[in-house]
This record gives sequence, structure tokens and C-alpha cells, in this order.
Amino acid sequence: MKPKVFLTRELPPTVLAFLREQCDLAMNPADRVLTAAEVIAGLRGRDALLCNITDPITAEIMDAAPGLRVIANFGVGFNNIDVAAATARRLPVTNTPGVLTEATADIAFALLLAAARRLGEGERLVRSRQWTGWNPMQMLGADVTGATLGLLGFGRIGQAMAKRARAFDLRVVYWNRTRLSPADEAAHGVEYRDFNDVVAAADYLSLHVAYNKDTHHLLGEKQFAAMKPTAFVINTARGPVIDEKALVRALASRRIGGAGLDVFEKEPALEPELYTLENAVIVPHLGSATIGTRTKMGMMAAQNLLAACAGQRPPNCVNPAIYA
Ligand code: DGY
Repeated sequence: MKPKVFLTRELPPTVLAFLREQCDLAMNPADRVLTAAEVIAGLRGRDALLCNITDPITAEIMDAAPGLRVIANFGVGFNNIDVAAATARRLPVTNTPGVLTEATADIAFALLLAAARRLGEGERLVRSRQWTGWNPMQMLGADVTGATLGLLGFGRIGQAMAKRARAFDLRVVYWNRTRLSPADEAAHGVEYRDFNDVVAAADYLSLHVAYNKDTHHLLGEKQFAAMKPTAFVINTARGPVIDEKALVRALASRRIGGAGLDVFEKEPALEPELYTLENAVIVPHLGSATIGTRTKMGMMAAQNLLAACAGQRPPNCVNPAIYA
């Protein structure tokens, strides 16, 4: 018997073809986020939920779907799911680690370069037909080569960012919950520092932590005050890791140099001033948005749900305690 799957949003064609072959697939026909009531209706009689990072999956939804055997998230982050509630109901929750590392580090580095070299501003100038020609003093940006990159979080994506930084001769300092061994630090070409030291030392401060109660507003007023006035913040992790109101104040007052942001505290809404601040480069959560990466994410999510529906422990289970 093929598992009965409910998919909350369209995925790349290769993934849909695989799901149609392997599962009895029902999916959201509309290209929008479903309401909780719609997710509950979609889950009626289904074994598996394939959801994504914009679907809040609550205890209420879990209780309304007694036949549910797995929640497979299309995304490495899974803060949209009440994992504690799932664990209490012995429901496996899975994510898609690894396959989006390079694409996300690419966006983080692209934002670093774009913010440093004022690419958003430059593009706006040209498109508005206000550009009057080359000028020795026009849009002078910040140097990247030889600067210090501070990484907050040093998991897969932080490490991929360090690799890119090496090619630009950046010095890399990092803070992570767990420090690497000296041999691993040498292999990655990075130096460990306390959290506050990384914040103060960075010319570019890039966030690579998971979002949870410990990382909520990891950067706020106090950290912006401690940063170099020329420094840039890069966020491809999760919006609420930064106190966005405090960031806007720091950017507007030029307390810091600028920001490159892929994620926002209340997506898709932004703090209103962010739309107009010239020293912020803002893009719409594109970290993993390549067809190859999104296909790999979808295939991984599908493999996770197939394993769970076959009674096996899925390869990327984020609440393995349910199998103990
Ligand atoms: C994730 O997988 O958590 C990303 O934010 C999606 O791009």
C-alpha cells in the first residue's frame, strides 16, 4: 500500500514525479500558504505530511490528524514545527540537512559582497536613470580582502562560509556552542573567540545558528553598540535571531555600516524603514533557492517520509528520542 501523503506546497517536477510514483499524493492546489484549518482538512485520512518552513505545525494540527505517522519538513530549519508536541505524540519530525549548505553559503557571501560594495544602491541608481557617469568618489564601498569575518555559529553553513572567505583572504574568527578541536580549527583556517569578541572584532558578522529560544534576538541593541561602526551584519539564518527594530536603529543612525539580509523577523513583512534604508541589501529568503538544491531537499524529505511510513527510523529525524 502506498503511503497517503499531504503536500502543502508545489515542489520541483522531479520531486513531484517521485512522490506520485511512490505515494498516494494529495497536494495544495493553490500557490499560497495554507491556513491551519486547510492543513487539517488536507490531512484527513493521510499518513504523512510534507510541509515547509512557512507552515506552522502545531499540537492542534497533530491532534486533528490521528492517522499521521510523520511530519517531513522541506527545509533544514524546523522552528515552524512544535517538535516537543510531536515528540510527546511519538511522531517523527524530519528535516533536510546538508543539501542546502553550499547554496546558502553562496547567498551569504553574495550578500556580504553586495552590502560591502553597495550593489543594491548602484543598481537602483542605474535603473532610475540617474547615473551621470563614472566618478572617482562615487559609491565608495568597503574592502573585503584582508578584512575580518566573524561567524556566529559554525555548523555546515558556517564552515562553507569560512571556505569562501579563505578565497578572499579574509581572517575568520568564529563562535559556536561547541568549540572545534585545534586540528579542525587549523583545517578550516579559523580562530575561536568568545561571542562578544567575535561581535567586536568583525568587519562582517555573519549568522549561522539555528533559531530557538536561546538564539532569539542573539543580536540586539547591545551587540550593535559593540560592533565596529563600519561593520556589516549578514543574516541567512532566521529573522528572529536579530532584533529587527534594533537593527533598523543601528542602520539608520549609521551606528553600523550596513546589512545583507535574506531573512526577516516577521516574513514576509519587514520593519517598514528597512524598505528604504540604502545601507541594507534585502532579498526574499533565497538561501536555498536553486532548482538543484530545492530538488535535493524535496527528494530528501520524500525519503524521510517513505522510511517513516515503512516503519523505519527516517534518516534525518530531529526528534530521535521517540525511537529510544
Ligand atoms: C531552510 O531550509 O531552513 C531554509 O531557510 C530554506 O531556504
